[in-house]
Amino acid sequence: MAGAWRGSLRARLMVGVVLLAAVGMVAVNAVSLLGLRLNLVDAADTTLTKTRDSVQHQVHRPTSPINLDNLNSLIPDGAYIAMVDDQGRVVAQTPTRTADGQARSRPDLPTPLPDDFAGHIVTVSSQDAPLPRYRTLSFPLGYSATVQRPGGPPRQFSRVVIAKSLKPADDAIYWLIGSDSAATLAVLGGIVLLSRGVLGVGLRPLRDMAATATAIAGGDLDQRIEVAQRHSEVGEVGTALNRAFDERQRSEEQLRQFVANASHELRTPLTTIRGWAQLHLHGLAQDPALIERAMLRIEGEATRMHTMVEELLLLARLDQGRPIAHAPVDLGALADDAVTDARVVDPGRPLTVEVPGEVFARGDEDRLRQVLQNLLSNALRHTPPDTPVSVTARALPDGTVQLAVTDQGPGMPPATAERIFERFYRGDESRNPTSGGTGLGLSIVRSIAEAHDGTATVRTAPGKGSTFTITLPAAR
Ligand SMILES: Nc1ncnc2c1ncn2[C@@H]1O[C@H](COP(=O)(O)OP(=O)(O)O)[C@@H](O)[C@H]1O
Ligand SMILES: [Mg+2]
Repeated sequence: MAGAWRGSLRARLMVGVVLLAAVGMVAVNAVSLLGLRLNLVDAADTTLTKTRDSVQHQVHRPTSPINLDNLNSLIPDGAYIAMVDDQGRVVAQTPTRTADGQARSRPDLPTPLPDDFAGHIVTVSSQDAPLPRYRTLSFPLGYSATVQRPGGPPRQFSRVVIAKSLKPADDAIYWLIGSDSAATLAVLGGIVLLSRGVLGVGLRPLRDMAATATAIAGGDLDQRIEVAQRHSEVGEVGTALNRAFDERQRSEEQLRQFVANASHELRTPLTTIRGWAQLHLHGLAQDPALIERAMLRIEGEATRMHTMVEELLLLARLDQGRPIAHAPVDLGALADDAVTDARVVDPGRPLTVEVPGEVFARGDEDRLRQVLQNLLSNALRHTPPDTPVSVTARALPDGTVQLAVTDQGPGMPPATAERIFERFYRGDESRNPTSGGTGLGLSIVRSIAEAHDGTATVRTAPGKGSTFTITLPAAR
């Protein structure tokens, strides 16, 4: 369970959200801390320059010694001031103890003080500890002044060092680091809880989908995923899956129907054959004329079964969607051949071929030959004997070619015309077993046309004859 949780999408999304939030918050905190620090140091530096100005003013060519206490009262709280003589020695400095007697830290100044020390403001650490640090500035007076130390002789000095403790700035920064960290942790905790909840709700549809798919795989084929928001990503997945389930169910249904139809169609001739054979075995068919008839019927039914099995095989192969040949096929020659064959079968039939110029389709010659043969045999079989039939082929400007078989026969009502391309569908008058049809001819025609990226259509009306049109890509 723990492993599943660790690998789950929700856990990974949550870790991602929390990590991103943490990185963002740390970055914002760091920038604000840096800004605050710059600001505070800047403020300390401003104080320092102001202090320098007032000290310079105070010690400007004094006639009497400067009183250290007076000077001390000039400088702001937390600031430090030292007088330095020509040798770089500190001769006087602000008290080392605070008013309440606490030891006070001082900046760690080098002894002797180099001439170029702290010409610009620099940061110096404390004497006995690294903290607090001091912003420190030293400036020469350009002349000698005298300082009066409490309880000591006056001393000469020519340089002043002033420093401002960074303790208030450091305190503010440490306080901010502490409070920022606490706030960041609290907010991250909140994000963990919230994202857990939000992701749980957001990913529930995925879990429902998995449950539905499992149920369907388990045999409950009518289950479908409930899609609440069609346009969300999850909704799109749900819709696509539902479509896939529908499609699968539909094709399974179709296959079942196909197998049932095929079995049914094969059963009829088998029953006939068995009936005649049993009649003979039981000695009931003594009459040579009857035996002759039995043999003819058995032969006829066997032929029909053979045709049907061949057609079923062809359909199965077409269903596999295997690529077909893409050779140029001369539709004019094909039409001539088919009509010549038909004339042999039905010599009295008025048959015409009409192919203006050269019409070449791109495809598989044998398959297209089969298309023409199926259409022509339908025209011969499903129309009265003397009905004219014509085969035409022409190239269209849009890069396709059309092959059409037209008869002046009885035509079909729309309800029939709609279904004739279905597998095993036969019109009412074609249902008697002697018609020899299987109901597969036109479905083969359509399958072949579609395998060529083409179409097969019919235009017909009762009493108006029928035109079957096959549209195919032209050969370049
Ligand atoms: N030229 C036509 N004129 C009238 N009806 C036709 C024509 N061609 C096909 N049909 C109808 O379409 C049905 C399906 O044709 P087909 O798939 O070739 O099956 P079959 O020819 O074996 O009956 C036929 O049974 C017939 O009713
Ligand atoms: Mg047919």
